[in-house]
Amino acid sequence: MTPDRNKAARELLAFYAEAGVDAAIGEQAKDRLSEPEPPAAPAVERPRAEAPRNTGGTSPARTADPRLSAPPARPAAPPPPTPDAAVMAAREAARGAANLDELRAILDRFDGCSLKGGASRLVFADGTPGSRLMFVGEAPGAEEDKQGFPFVGRSGQLLDRMLAAIGLDRSKVYIANIVPWRPPGNRTPTPVETQICLPFVQRQIELCDPDVLVTVGQPSTGALLNVQGIMKNRGRWFSYQTGTREIRAMPMLHPAYLLRSPIGKRLAWRDLLAIKKALG
Ligand code: URA
Repeated sequence: MTPDRNKAARELLAFYAEAGVDAAIGEQAKDRLSEPEPPAAPAVERPRAEAPRNTGGTSPARTADPRLSAPPARPAAPPPPTPDAAVMAAREAARGAANLDELRAILDRFDGCSLKGGASRLVFADGTPGSRLMFVGEAPGAEEDKQGFPFVGRSGQLLDRMLAAIGLDRSKVYIANIVPWRPPGNRTPTPVETQICLPFVQRQIELCDPDVLVTVGQPSTGALLNVQGIMKNRGRWFSYQTGTREIRAMPMLHPAYLLRSPIGKRLAWRDLLAIKKALG
């Protein structure tokens, strides 16, 4: 090969490698672009589920041509429910839970929210059921998805310190999220995902029956209290109706926000003191 051709061949190989072509599959180079089009493959009849079986009559059994046989039929997955149907199913399912253990089991079996498919596990709650103070956050993150408990990552550690600042710890509160499965890439749950999971967290609040409910961050505040604007609503008291009684509720800045904007801790401290006072 002349030095010129050598250089050209090296450059061509480098181009192939960059394009992902990094394995030789034949001894001879083949210009497939100049090959004639292959004849159309004969139509293959797919095996039908109820095709009559050869029960061993006189005709010789035909051996299937492995090149033509279709892959084994997989049972078709049921189509996902429409969002409306999923919300209705969630309401019905959540209503059927007589206590928090039943609610967790029902939620674990519930297939109406697509977040479940991408998560490692259900993140239901932490703390003590029946506590006087309940927190509801947004959604599990990577660490919560790994451990199965809400608020155990960096923002959870800050939440623990905030609780300690008013003389509380996880054993004295109950903690849940609006959606119990980790959204892919930690994105905010969509409105549809939130609406589908909402009946479960509403039932969770009803069954925990706290005296004070704290919505942590805007997604939880919007979903449970139906108000927009965490900055203007944090620290204000709202009324949350469980269906059986009214609970005092307060939106609070999310610890993940406080980690990014420590200046907000001053406001969070004020809110924590108001929560402490409300508990008496
Ligand atoms: N953020 C939340 O809102 N919930 C968690 O469980 C963790 C982080």
